[in-house]
Amino acid sequence: MKNIILSIFLSFTLLGCAEKKEAPKAVVADTSAGKAIAERSCKGCHGMDGGGAAPGIPHLAAQRERYLLASIAEYKDGKRTHAALKDMTANMSDPEVRSVVAYYAGLPPVANAAAKDIHLSSPYQEGKALAAPCANCHGEDGNSKTPGTPSLAGQQPHYLVTAIEEYHQGDRKAAVMGSKLRGSKNMDLEKIALYYASQTPAQRPAAKIGDPAAGEPATAMCGGCHGARGVSTDGATPTLAGQDATYLVNSMKAYKKSRQNWGMQRYIAGLSDKDIENIAAYYSIQKSNPSDVVPATIKELVDKCNRCHEAADNPTMAIPKMNGQDRDYLVMSLRSYREGKRQSTMMHNMSFAYSNAMIESIASWYASQPADKH
Ligand code: HEC
Ligand code: HEC
Ligand code: HEC
Ligand code: HEC
Repeated sequence: MKNIILSIFLSFTLLGCAEKKEAPKAVVADTSAGKAIAERSCKGCHGMDGGGAAPGIPHLAAQRERYLLASIAEYKDGKRTHAALKDMTANMSDPEVRSVVAYYAGLPPVANAAAKDIHLSSPYQEGKALAAPCANCHGEDGNSKTPGTPSLAGQQPHYLVTAIEEYHQGDRKAAVMGSKLRGSKNMDLEKIALYYASQTPAQRPAAKIGDPAAGEPATAMCGGCHGARGVSTDGATPTLAGQDATYLVNSMKAYKKSRQNWGMQRYIAGLSDKDIENIAAYYSIQKSNPSDVVPATIKELVDKCNRCHEAADNPTMAIPKMNGQDRDYLVMSLRSYREGKRQSTMMHNMSFAYSNAMIESIASWYASQPADKH
């Protein structure tokens, strides 16, 4: 399939080259010249109506001209990597680019026929359903009342996924958790993690073990990673504030025996049993909150995105419209920003906290919206 597409468009490019020599210089932004270029070189993938011909190909119809021009410039200079588009656009003159962009930008938006088939999902709702069997031990809302069983409410979502994987890989040994969720899709683990991360941790009463006042100074070197008073702001590092004290003691001791983690094994090595109890007593009574990487709802999140994406065309920034855009294309571009494969510091910062489950939900939401008119 890839080869077919490649050869089709290679022949388009060659055709384009041959014609360029004879054709008179195109007038700047000549939409009928643009239409001819689209017919020749773009139709196979973007259609004559500007609708992506297959999942993963963006719709161009009614997209902002400024943004389309900026993206083609990025393919040309290699800031955005797509081998086919780089080759194709390398051979196009400025007036040709302007014309084909004017043609696509001027089309009415494509009816997003697929919208009704898009399954609108909220990772929180799905995560809540998936987490139902955990409530017996971890508490209905992730606040455990059983000594030795950790609370999951407000915990960092990346950490929760890692923790479950560690049980499966045997890096952590706990008979009760070892077989749970084995064989689950990673996406499901992420949904469970998002659900718990968004729950509010309960304030705990003083623990029956240890002395919190003696514990506080012993945590001096822990805060760099676990955050002030044990409220972590890093996705991979667990929050300790508000955690069950018995569990904290058990987990610290586990690093001395069976639990594998290069850093933690060293930080704990020098602590006495008394230190460990005091530290646990201190952290368990600290106030925690829902993880800050988790916005409450997709709608709330999207409102944040729309401050840029739905704003009137911004003369200083090339910002694409997203309503009605192809879902797979949106998923792909958000992942590329997150992983730094598509360059945009702004969008990297925006997307890097999001799990795949979150990205799928955002993309589904935008794809299901009616596309904006001009
Ligand atoms: C072989 C299929 C193919 C052909 C032919 C093709 N494109 Fe694309 N186009 C794509 C794909 C796939 C992407 C998304 C690539 C990415 O991830 O950056 C894309 C992205 C774009 C984008 C960026 C859109 C956005 O929302 O960021 C523009 C603009 C574009 N193409 C214009 C054109 C023009 C103009 C032509 C004809 C000269 C053309 N393309 C021909 C497949 C194609
Ligand atoms: C029968 C009781 C029980 C059930 C049911 C249970 N767990 Fe656990 N879970 C535990 C105990 C006990 C631990 C602590 C084990 C240890 O010391 O490592 C734990 C640990 C965890 C941890 C590690 C937390 C941390 O701070 O490192 C995660 C994540 C977790 N469970 C998720 C789940 C999920 C998700 C479910 C539901 C699919 C679930 N558990 C069902 C008892 C249970
Ligand atoms: C360099 C960063 C770093 C420092 C410093 C650090 N930790 Fe950790 N800690 C981590 C990471 C990362 C994990 C998760 C490791 C894993 O997956 O087992 C962790 C895990 C833990 C856990 C297990 C939590 C759970 O939910 O299972 C406890 C308890 C803990 N740390 C306590 C401490 C204490 C006490 C100190 C200071 C003496 C400390 N840590 C210092 C990074 C750090
Ligand atoms: C401060 C303004 C701003 C905010 C807020 C913002 N974006 Fe963007 N977004 C941009 C700009 C600028 C681009 C174009 C970057 C480039 O050239 O690759 C972009 C590009 C994108 C693209 C690529 C679309 C395409 O057609 O290729 C997606 C997807 C996207 N943003 C999603 C989001 C989501 C989801 C959010 C909210 C979590 C968000 N953006 C918030 C400014 C913003």
